Amino acid sequence: MKAEMEALRQRACAQISAATDEPTLQQVRVTFLGKKGELTAILRGMKDLTAQERPVIGALANTVRAELETQLASRLAELKAQALAARLATERLDITLPGKPARRGHLHPLTRVNRLIQDVFMKMGYTVADGPEIESDYYNFQCLNFPPDHPARDMQDSFYITDSILLRTHTSPVQARTMQAHEPNTPIRIISPGKVFRWDYDATHSPVFHQVEGLLIDRQIAFSDLKGTIEHFCREIFGADTKVRFRASFFPFTEPSAEVDILFRTRHTRGGAVDTQDNWLEILGCGMVHPNVLRLNGYDPDVMNGFAFGMGVERIAMLLYGIDDLRLFYENDLRFLAQF
Ligand code: DAH
Repeated sequence: MKAEMEALRQRACAQISAATDEPTLQQVRVTFLGKKGELTAILRGMKDLTAQERPVIGALANTVRAELETQLASRLAELKAQALAARLATERLDITLPGKPARRGHLHPLTRVNRLIQDVFMKMGYTVADGPEIESDYYNFQCLNFPPDHPARDMQDSFYITDSILLRTHTSPVQARTMQAHEPNTPIRIISPGKVFRWDYDATHSPVFHQVEGLLIDRQIAFSDLKGTIEHFCREIFGADTKVRFRASFFPFTEPSAEVDILFRTRHTRGGAVDTQDNWLEILGCGMVHPNVLRLNGYDPDVMNGFAFGMGVERIAMLLYGIDDLRLFYENDLRFLAQF
């Protein structure tokens, strides 16, 4: 029995050192020390031993069991250490690699241009006024001296919600709202940026676009005040040597009215040669506030007068950045947007 035990010890020790992973080691434990294991089987056979032999073999069995336990534990520790060392070697972190930069967004070009425009007027003492995008016929047209048959009032040109409520076609209703919110005959100096809506869609028209309205009311305001303001604005945005032209025009809410053009240099590259061409391009509408508009909104045209202007933000952004299709602003294509 002693010899049997010794042989078992040797086999077990050999298998323990030969095990190269934890499951194999676990299997060795089961083979020798498990309920149906070899050592257990030997112990079961002890009932057949003599009374003298029994304690000797029993003690020997315990020694062997204890030795195997120790060997198993130290081999397990060895395997764990090897596995850890292998992981550390393969998963080594190279802290000298440059990090992955977080992708930073930036302002949309229309937002940038909108802010540029606002900055110019805020430096001239204008404050920003806001108005609703869903507007009444009353503010959108009536308060602004639109005749009942004006084409902008046609269902074909505007988005109506009911007969008397529509998506505003311009930011001009904020003029009326601002005058009505003021004490009659008190000075006003506001700009109002915002979305406007029209039934149009092509390379230079979008059904939703942005305008910035301006309104200045005071005493004895002259057309030259309007002219100086607009010229200053154009030079701030497009450069100090920008040529500005006022062209007589018509709007129901201003009299006299003008459209303003800037002389704009376009560059074309044809086979290597650069062609430049100067064109007058319209950038805004403006005029002296019509006496009817003052009256309709609680102001006395014999005491107060002023000027107003309105411009399209997309239009100005297209000129500033040399963009020829306004739909690019709304497509959210990062290849386009990342250029700004
Ligand atoms: N509301 C006009 C439009 O959308 C633009 C405009 C022209 C606004 C002249 C004004 C102005 O305030 O005086 O076409």
